[in-house]
Amino acid sequence: MCGIVGYTGPRQAASLLIEGLRRLEYRGYDSAGIAVVNGRGLEVMKAAGKLSALEQQLAGKLPQGTVGIGHTRWATHGAPTTPNAHPHTDQSGDIAVIHNGIIENAGAIRKMLEARGHTFTSETDTEVLVHLVGELYDGSLEEAVAAALRDVDGAYGLAFISEREPGVIVAARKGSPLLVGVGEDEYFIASDASPLLEHTRSVVYLDDGEMAILTPDGYRIRNLETTQIDKPVNQIEWDLATIERGGYSHFMLKEICEQRESVTNTLRGHLLEEEGTSRVTGLNLSDEQLKRIERIVITACGTSWHAGLIGEYMLEEMARIPVEVEYASEFRYRNPVVDERTLVIAISQSGETADTLAAVREAKLRGARTIGLVNVVGSTIAREVDGGIYLHAGPEVGVASTKAFTSQVAALALVSLRIARLRNLSILQGRDFIQHLQALPDKIQQILNRSDEIEQLAERFVRASNALYLGRGVNFPVALEGALKLKEISYIHAEGYPAAEMKHGPIALIDEMMPVVFIAPKDAVYQKILSNMEEVKARGGKVIALVNECDAQVDRLADACIEIPETHELLSPMLTIIPLQLFSYYVAVRRGCNVDQPRNLAKSVTVE
Ligand code: M6R
Repeated sequence: MCGIVGYTGPRQAASLLIEGLRRLEYRGYDSAGIAVVNGRGLEVMKAAGKLSALEQQLAGKLPQGTVGIGHTRWATHGAPTTPNAHPHTDQSGDIAVIHNGIIENAGAIRKMLEARGHTFTSETDTEVLVHLVGELYDGSLEEAVAAALRDVDGAYGLAFISEREPGVIVAARKGSPLLVGVGEDEYFIASDASPLLEHTRSVVYLDDGEMAILTPDGYRIRNLETTQIDKPVNQIEWDLATIERGGYSHFMLKEICEQRESVTNTLRGHLLEEEGTSRVTGLNLSDEQLKRIERIVITACGTSWHAGLIGEYMLEEMARIPVEVEYASEFRYRNPVVDERTLVIAISQSGETADTLAAVREAKLRGARTIGLVNVVGSTIAREVDGGIYLHAGPEVGVASTKAFTSQVAALALVSLRIARLRNLSILQGRDFIQHLQALPDKIQQILNRSDEIEQLAERFVRASNALYLGRGVNFPVALEGALKLKEISYIHAEGYPAAEMKHGPIALIDEMMPVVFIAPKDAVYQKILSNMEEVKARGGKVIALVNECDAQVDRLADACIEIPETHELLSPMLTIIPLQLFSYYVAVRRGCNVDQPRNLAKSVTVE
């Protein structure tokens, strides 16, 4: 989604802004721009397309000035054109704004301003907002912004500068993340920490309804009225190396290859081997409270939703507690049946997904206890839930989620183990589960060590137009996730199904052009899934089998076979997904796709 960066201090702003925008590229965008205040006024440069288009326009002649704002835009209202790109300026051209989010009553405000003689050059809601600030300006940018925001409905993370008040940035947040970077005699504003890490690790997270006023001499936080607010300065743990590619050709490949470590980090400190259970104090729930839970609802979007489905299998199987998994976008509008005896688990890599955040708020309103399985420390969901587990997977930059998925499943395993041990899982079963969990990182590495094999396999399927992914039980969500990975980065149409569902429709698609990926570890339904392979083979489909052992039986049925180490049945998704991530990656690279920033996709979806 859109990215925001702003700077005020002693250094030249423009190059810092361009660098910052580069760090924000991973969020997904289709135009970019900067505005800088200097002795000659306000200079705005913007361009449709990638950041390189803006850099070409600047052609090495960066505008001078020590305060500025920069933006990458992911189009919502209005096409991704240069006029629609941010920053936008007010009627006088003296005030500029960058904005993430949507101003819902922009239409009415626009009409009112047009009646007062304002003219607009873009189709955006953002331009309306800056014109309103210009209209209300009476000697103080801060007060004009506060007054304008009291009149607007909608969501925003935004930053204003003005040539009338050089050195000042006025930022505000409602529904779209924003943080202040506190440097030495310099201050930053950004939509996430990545553009700041090179300069400072000290940040202040803004909450909804708060404004930040930055000058080269310091910063203040206040609300839209006049109340000043004291906020703690947090230290970001991630360092610069974690958000750089470090020798890998893509972030996605780096992140796939980091999974031995990321899963180890998720599990670290949570396993109590002797007691055969997990320590998850962050849930902020006593044993008594956990025992009283009658129902669990898991809510999330995309890949995180797939992890949630795996959680459903784990929790129901191990703890014998009913679980429902809801798309957050549906949950929030569906009058869901949740109350104080329901535990709502929100899963999110970014911790900023608008629908998941809204689902958490809805669940809290209805009295449910909420916990978050979140990767980004300090993110909005992490701060709003009643408790939770940080994934500690490290920053995920590639738009396609990979290492966050395995860490989400690992975190769900920790929660399931804790609840199950309080109910009906024996200490011996608990210890056995822990042993399997502890062995996973090495097994993940064993698969990663064979990535050449998967690269060769990808070569054979690079020209496919469609693909089918089939799995059963806890590996049905892996089929969904494998298909999602392939479609989002290679643009090959792919679908995931429970294998036995094939006969109820998808079988009609099978011919010699259709690769069918079977996720078939040796579990209770292994023989049944082999029968499904027979059915595909009989219709000429190309079978790719993910199995524990490529024995003679599989060999006869499969055109290609990938071996996966054995593990506990419920933990197998953390292994079966690895070759599917690699397969999608290599197919997409061979097809010349932009793996880290696939078309139309954003890393963190902060609008509905
Ligand atoms: O940050 P979140 O986990 O809340 O994001 C949810 C989805 O937007 C995300 O998983 C999306 O589906 C990814 N593109 C998947 O690779």
